[in-house]
Amino acid sequence: MDRILIRGGNRLNGRLPISGAKNAALTLMPCALLTDEPVTLRNLPRLADVDGFGHLLNQLGASTTIEGSRPEDFGRVMTIRAGQLTSTEAPYDIVRKMRASILVLGPILARAGQARVSLPGGCAIGNRPIDLHLKALQAIGAELEMSAGYVTATAPGGRLGGGRYTFPIVSVGATENVLMAAVTARGSSRIENAAREPEIVDLCRCLVAMGARIEGIGTETLEIEGVAELHGATYGVMPDRIEAGSYACAAAVAGGTVELANVSAGDMGATLEALRAAGVGVEERRDSIVVSSDGKLAPLTLSTAPYPGFATDMQAQFMAMLCKADGASVLTETIFENRYMHVPELARMGADIQVHGRTAVVKGVDRLVGAPVMATDLRASMSLIIAGLVAEGETSVARVYHLDRGYERLEEKLSAVGADIERDSGG
Ligand code: UD1
Repeated sequence: MDRILIRGGNRLNGRLPISGAKNAALTLMPCALLTDEPVTLRNLPRLADVDGFGHLLNQLGASTTIEGSRPEDFGRVMTIRAGQLTSTEAPYDIVRKMRASILVLGPILARAGQARVSLPGGCAIGNRPIDLHLKALQAIGAELEMSAGYVTATAPGGRLGGGRYTFPIVSVGATENVLMAAVTARGSSRIENAAREPEIVDLCRCLVAMGARIEGIGTETLEIEGVAELHGATYGVMPDRIEAGSYACAAAVAGGTVELANVSAGDMGATLEALRAAGVGVEERRDSIVVSSDGKLAPLTLSTAPYPGFATDMQAQFMAMLCKADGASVLTETIFENRYMHVPELARMGADIQVHGRTAVVKGVDRLVGAPVMATDLRASMSLIIAGLVAEGETSVARVYHLDRGYERLEEKLSAVGADIERDSGG
């Protein structure tokens, strides 16, 4: 199995291109199920999860064609044609490997009047139920039946009616699912306490480009006027704000000046604010952000929250960065119950972190020391890479498949800005 080997200590300098957003791609791809016309997505990242989602669309009867797949290209263009669906089922084998598969539920139901999707089960960062996806779909007219680990959703008369739903807590995925289901309902829908993540805005814009009628985009109240059908569209996936934030943390702790290219600073408010509070130079340009640091960092107090708050997907990377801050930081995870799996691995590299329930106290240390460590989930893996970049000696990160789910050619991007990092495919 592949490992990533890093010899720490190099400063990072240069330009680092940011890919299309994984989490946006995974909700834009299922939109193509809503129409029999082709949907073309540009700036799609080359990631294992995107390939996996393409495979799921194929199983449902959609064809996927990819252009711009020269190995040296970042980003691809994918055209998805769902002329007709040959299956309305997302099987266990696919859903258990990729939780985001649940996002086909709303679109298949809207398109075919019925959908059967495996329940995803737990995952490394917590229990992650889908009850809110189901309640929201029920509120706009879906009838649900659970059996043998699957949920079958039916639209009486073949088409959802529309309705009103207020989320008790903010859920990105459930907001996406109900939105995709509501756009072609007979009547109108009103979704309150909707997630406002930039990826939801991206989804709304793509749906509007396909003919959907949505008001309140970017706010917590979405009003959807159902239309009879959607048409094809060409849409560019937004930049990956989490990838950009991850490399910003890397540059902040390693020191140097890195220009994160093709990003939108407007989507990264809380991350940039936290970097500045740690003493990192952050210059916002039109399509890029320049991060500069001498490696000396002030400690922070951060609590994760739904957008526009500080993203849970940035918590592990900030924790790795703050291991070298000058003082004690306090991080609180409010979104997922088990998102500190990187703590014992960071501790093996010399980090001083105490976890008390949902809160972690990170005392800055003078030195981290390279060690063999194991990735547990996507963002946790990135925190180990960040720690490895400043650790003395060699760090080897096992279970790289976690990173391949969400970071397009990580080692290539980091070595281009001066990191001593390589992939070892031998072991
Ligand atoms: C998405 C992102 C993930 C990010 C997360 C929070 C994708 C593919 N993944 O995940 O990277 O960390 O948003 O920003 O976009 N919950 C329920 N019932 C539900 C759904 C969610 O209780 O039916 C809970 C979850 O367990 C969690 C919280 O709600 O505690 C937020 O989860 P949610 O926003 O739904 O995360 P995902 O959409 O799974």
